[in-house]
Amino acid sequence: MIVGAQWGDEGKGKVTDLMAERADSIVRFQGGNNAGHTIIRGDEVFKLHLVPSGILHPGTTCVIGNGVVIDPGVLIGELDELRRRGIDTLGLKISANAHLIMPYHLLLDSEGEAQLGELKIGTTKRGIGPCYADKASRLGIRVQDLLDEKILRKKIMTAMEPKRQMLRPFSRDPMLDLHTMTEAYLTFGHRLEPHIADTAALVWNDLQAGKDVVFEGAQGALLDIDHGTYPFVTSSNPIAGAACIGAGVGPTAIDDVWGIAKAYTTRVGSGPFPSEQFDDVADRIRDVGHEFGTTTGRPRRIGWLDLVAMKYASRLNGLTGLCITKLDVLSGIDPLRVAVSYRTADGAEFSEFPYHQSVLHHATADYVEMPGWQEDITGARSLDDLPEACRNYLDYISESLGVPIVLIGVGPERSQVILLGDRAAELA
Ligand code: GDP
Ligand code: IMO
Ligand code: MG
Repeated sequence: MIVGAQWGDEGKGKVTDLMAERADSIVRFQGGNNAGHTIIRGDEVFKLHLVPSGILHPGTTCVIGNGVVIDPGVLIGELDELRRRGIDTLGLKISANAHLIMPYHLLLDSEGEAQLGELKIGTTKRGIGPCYADKASRLGIRVQDLLDEKILRKKIMTAMEPKRQMLRPFSRDPMLDLHTMTEAYLTFGHRLEPHIADTAALVWNDLQAGKDVVFEGAQGALLDIDHGTYPFVTSSNPIAGAACIGAGVGPTAIDDVWGIAKAYTTRVGSGPFPSEQFDDVADRIRDVGHEFGTTTGRPRRIGWLDLVAMKYASRLNGLTGLCITKLDVLSGIDPLRVAVSYRTADGAEFSEFPYHQSVLHHATADYVEMPGWQEDITGARSLDDLPEACRNYLDYISESLGVPIVLIGVGPERSQVILLGDRAAELA
């Protein structure tokens, strides 16, 4: 399993694409097109939002599990674009039980944010929160509903009813016309029908046959709706346990959980970020690391590596391996700093991630300083190719978290990795 160990955008797409070389299936289990997973192959850049990051490998089954929320128009657009670029998309399977993002979800997301004003979450405005809310309210429209006009129309009508008040300003918006919406979604249904399947059964069959299944998380542990920096979170559970629910497998099916983390920290959107920096170093990292949102293009907030948050993420996920990406971006920054505890204005110190919102919102980080390195490491392919300061930095992270490093990213291209450990060696 591949999960984000920070606030998202850790490089999950790149690691999943690498794993897909050997895997039989790749399964997305939560989130929606709020995700933006980048894969770079030579000169080609792929930015995937809904399609699992295994799609570039012919023969790999790519599953969008029941826990994902799907904007069908966006999915069809993504499939068209992949086909245009010569990628075979026949291996995509979509859960009949996955929930659909509807036009009113998009409006409710933007309206909700506008009403929050200064307190806004900074969502991706893709309708994710309202769609999961409808799912919990049992007013959701699911993929299987696309295949029955009568049911679809009735369910849309029922789902829109309690939202009338909030949607009143848009009452003339053709997007919200019942007939137009039903027709549009039926058309999406025709397009997607060949991909719709009982995906939990598919994954079960693969596992039974001893095949390799990779679960591809979206977002990251600190954006988890239960364990993250609530309310500045996404509306799903990006942690490992959620894969069982969002794909329909039992916890005994999971052998390995790899947490992906950048060698520093970024966050998009609002909310607490104790190791955040606003200086020249942060600007340099944003520049060199191209830290602009894959989905919204927003500049990402930048901070030092935060071991308090990562220790928390490691515990929540039960990590068995760590993938440290974007190490190359830190070349030339000396000294480096790593957050090891938080402190509040009254001097209280926290070595564990605080659960209380007011503590977290006012926490600043305490750091240890470590020597940086000047060398360009983008050509490194083994630990021996890395400068000593770089190896010390990695050892410090791994020892502090008690989790072995299995992969190191030294550049955006898929070949720019150092693989360590047995399972990673299988990929080499
Ligand atoms: P995801 O959402 O976790 O898949 O991550 P994103 O794709 O949103 O953001 C990660 C960005 O970092 C992408 O632009 C990747 O191409 C890039 N990237 C991934 N690994 C590395 C690395 O090791 N070094 C560098 N320089 N860039 C990387
Ligand atoms: P990947 O999979 C980074 C953030 C948004 C916002 C909060 C809630 O590429 O790592 P939402 O639209 O989900 O209701 O927004 O979550 N967010 C992400 N940040 N990477 C992502 O996905 C994100 N998906 C959502 O910026 O702060
Ligand atoms: Mg991303």
